[in-house]
Amino acid sequence: MGKLSVIPLFTFLLFLSVIDTKANQYTMLSPTGTIKVNIEENGGRLEYSVRYENLVIIKPSSLGMTFSDGIDFTKGLKLEQAEHRKVNETWEQPWGEVKTIQNKYNEYTFWIKKLGKKMKLCFRLFDDGVGFRYEVPDNVGFGKVEITDEITRFNMNAKDEAWWIGAYQKNSYEHLYQKTPLSQLTDTVHTPLTIETENGKLVSIHEAALFDYASMTLAPDRNGGLKCDLAPWPDGIKVKTEAPFKTPWRTIQLAENAAGLMTSYLILNLNEPSKIEDTSWITPGKYVGIWWEMHLKKSTWAQGANHGANTNNVKRYINFAAKYGFKGVLAEGWNYGWDGNWPADGSNFRFYEPVPDFDMDELSAYATKKGVKLINHHETGGDVANYLEQVEQAFEFSKKYNITTVKTGHVGHYLNGEYTHYGQFAVEYYQKVVELAAKYHIMLDVHEPVKPTGIRRTWPNMMTREGARGMEFDAWSRDGGNPPSHIEILPFTRLLGGPMDFTPGIFEMTLPSRPNNRSNMTLAKQLSVYVLIYSPLQMAADLPENYEGNPAFQFIVDVPTDWDITLVPEAKIGKYLTVVRKDRNSEDWYLGSATNEDSHKITVDCSFLEKNARYTAEIYRDAPDAHWKNNPKAIIIEQKEVNSSSKFEIQLAEGGGAAIRFKKNN
Ligand code: NOJ
Repeated sequence: MGKLSVIPLFTFLLFLSVIDTKANQYTMLSPTGTIKVNIEENGGRLEYSVRYENLVIIKPSSLGMTFSDGIDFTKGLKLEQAEHRKVNETWEQPWGEVKTIQNKYNEYTFWIKKLGKKMKLCFRLFDDGVGFRYEVPDNVGFGKVEITDEITRFNMNAKDEAWWIGAYQKNSYEHLYQKTPLSQLTDTVHTPLTIETENGKLVSIHEAALFDYASMTLAPDRNGGLKCDLAPWPDGIKVKTEAPFKTPWRTIQLAENAAGLMTSYLILNLNEPSKIEDTSWITPGKYVGIWWEMHLKKSTWAQGANHGANTNNVKRYINFAAKYGFKGVLAEGWNYGWDGNWPADGSNFRFYEPVPDFDMDELSAYATKKGVKLINHHETGGDVANYLEQVEQAFEFSKKYNITTVKTGHVGHYLNGEYTHYGQFAVEYYQKVVELAAKYHIMLDVHEPVKPTGIRRTWPNMMTREGARGMEFDAWSRDGGNPPSHIEILPFTRLLGGPMDFTPGIFEMTLPSRPNNRSNMTLAKQLSVYVLIYSPLQMAADLPENYEGNPAFQFIVDVPTDWDITLVPEAKIGKYLTVVRKDRNSEDWYLGSATNEDSHKITVDCSFLEKNARYTAEIYRDAPDAHWKNNPKAIIIEQKEVNSSSKFEIQLAEGGGAAIRFKKNN
């Protein structure tokens, strides 16, 4: 991978025709005019509204914010038009679900003024949605400020249906999504919030470029209205900052259907280009690790007779990784700190001190010899003060041992015992670690993170993160594991923010050591997840002995983690989903398809393949008698010669799926 390139097609400043219908009202248009935003000052208050294909999606909704010293930017405001520009450029992702992204928008900036103070309000209208944010430059009357509220609203219809998880709960984002009309939201909710409007349009409300600010959660009013509810500091203040500052972009993605949401790159477009100039050290790939065996209670993170991360066991995983071409080996429990009640007290964690039966010198040399890299694990137990004291030495230590990927962890309900994982404290903490990691050329996989808001464009070493219920819930969650439909919901909710380290690939779905739990999908569906849930670092999570000898494992060996093109031929949120992606480093294509508890027939239309080329389709599909509960391992593996005019059907079982590699024949 080389340097990050940005290819501007044309980027120029010009006066767009803002239709100034009334004195204090402006209408803004997206490049093709499919999205229209109206902004109006009425009696000193500001409101905006959004139309998509002439349908009202966001009804008039308030804008503004209040500060702790009595400055109230919600009323008595004057609106003045400032600059406009039109941008059309393309840029390349160093890694991702697509290589080239078009960034085409019309930007309109306004001044909001009140009593000698002013701030900017900037709108960007794309054809797949809208971003807007408040900007407070230097010398406009603000110094150090405390934001007590942001009254930005998104007023929709009570009957519009949303997929949501409640905010301010324990275990931050790790909950099952509920689907209800907006009028039945029983809690303040996290974003991305995905909504299907009464007239069938798909909407996602989220934010982009969350830096030095609190996360936006959304408080419902039972009439379809949603108000920005910034996650507070413990003292109730929402944001503590100083001019100049900018809020994150408030984003409204709009699409005809669920597939359109999944292939919208608006969140990335609203982030700044990479601050890391040479990205050649940032390399996606697959990994295995000493991980599932602890979740199965077969071994322990803590020291003792059953300690998982002992030198011999790590070597076993290194051998396995080398044999099948996996890039990384994670070894959780390699360091001091696991022996006590670490979720309650993370202060004993040491991040550059291996425990005695983990021989770092030997293992690092062994891994290097085998062409594999160890992945370091930094579980903090939420004690990030302890982590920050050690983090630079820990990264130096990693480098010394040829370790270039670190998985961080933040188990516990609060950071440092008092801060949520999504308030301003957390946002600043996670960002600090991203920037320090970049300094040491370390890639990050963050567990118990703050939600993704596209910062991977600016910091492409921020590879993947958790921030939802991952596969681990199948091992120990009290409800028995993720239900089948979870996989058909995640790509349209949490994943709209960015990649997820879901840790797929469980081949032994029933778990003798965890009799009340299981992985609720068929084997073919387990494979499909590698295509459906995008992550640049993708784990083969099961035990090596559960993979050895199983021919279905070949798909995990083959499937890449870095793509040129992503297409979504069919999608219905919570029901079924098919994704095809083209490998970035070969001419091969991959398909993943999955269904919820109901069986589903798909037609594979191969028109995405290169014309006049021949491919071998290596198909992994549910056997006719497969069923997620009664017969999850029944799989058929077969090959077929295909070309771009081929079409064939596949029957997905209840809770089933399919995975296909289209291998180009030379
Ligand atoms: C929760 C993480 O999601 C999981 O991957 C990890 O193994 C445990 N915490 C321990 O750090």
